[in-house]
Amino acid sequence: MIERIAVFGGGLMGAGIAQVSAQGGFQVVMVDVSMEFLDKGMSMIHRNLEKRVEQGKLAMEEMEKILARIRIETAPEMAAKDCDFVIEAIPEIMDLKIELFQKLGEVCRPGIIFATNTSALSISDMAEATDRPDEFIGMHFFNPVPAMKLVEIVRGKKTSDRTVRIASEIAKRIGKDFVLVKESPGFVTTRMNALIGNEAFYMLQEGVASAEDIDKALKLGLNHPMGPFELVDLVGLDTRLSVLRYLHERLGEKYRPCPLIEQYVKEGLLGRKSGRGVYNYNDEKK
Ligand code: NAI
Repeated sequence: MIERIAVFGGGLMGAGIAQVSAQGGFQVVMVDVSMEFLDKGMSMIHRNLEKRVEQGKLAMEEMEKILARIRIETAPEMAAKDCDFVIEAIPEIMDLKIELFQKLGEVCRPGIIFATNTSALSISDMAEATDRPDEFIGMHFFNPVPAMKLVEIVRGKKTSDRTVRIASEIAKRIGKDFVLVKESPGFVTTRMNALIGNEAFYMLQEGVASAEDIDKALKLGLNHPMGPFELVDLVGLDTRLSVLRYLHERLGEKYRPCPLIEQYVKEGLLGRKSGRGVYNYNDEKK
């Protein structure tokens, strides 16, 4: 029976995963490299839950119970030694993830499943570097985690049926729906999104329409909730570019990054986080 989940990374995704796990009734320990990051993650969780209380969607006592289920920790071995399930949400750098999983392999009991929230990296390559390739799986959550309904459950080459069953049960218990995906670069969502986003840049480059009109066309004509440029500004153009480069390397020409996205990144136009991407957000900050 899974009771205690250790979430590694207290950033945008890790804090969200810790929150929904606690909402699902799990005892959670959220781990990051410093207290400063953990405090930021906890403030994000507080703000999200308080908003739900203000909207009348959550009772105050329930919020307190959820918060009481989350512990923070900077020592990975302390968090790992008595947990039942690990979810990793540290930066998208293969070596960093492998180093963490190898460290956890030394502390976690056999049978404890390792899940990674990577948005595109190979689950099997990561799994092979650990002591438990059969107890390794992808659980790809979406941003913002509390609001987004889906988890892509990604099965690596050696992932066992038991691992898939337990990860699916956890996704359900934290209120998410899931799809089961066989390991393949970018899974379903990252791959599809990268292609649509790249095509949008090609259209902009060719002068087919303005960025505003391309976004409007996809929202009003194809019923996308956000336009591709609004979305890439949220995700970060640098992040999207590195995903495209990875997919290009693994899947071929179809994913070659459009020169226009390369140019934006070179000029430091990275999206909302840098104040400007395809759109300008500098006025919003004032
Ligand atoms: P982030 O940069 O907001 O958070 C990462 C956190 O991990 C930082 O607080 C960092 O201090 C911490 N960290 C670094 N090394 C660590 C270690 N060894 N142990 C514990 N904590 C450590 O990044 P974000 O956006 O939360 O992404 C995390 C993962 O989730 C990445 O693999 C990313 O590709 C994936 N992802 C991101 C999405 C997004 O929209 N941002 C969506 C879906 C997946």
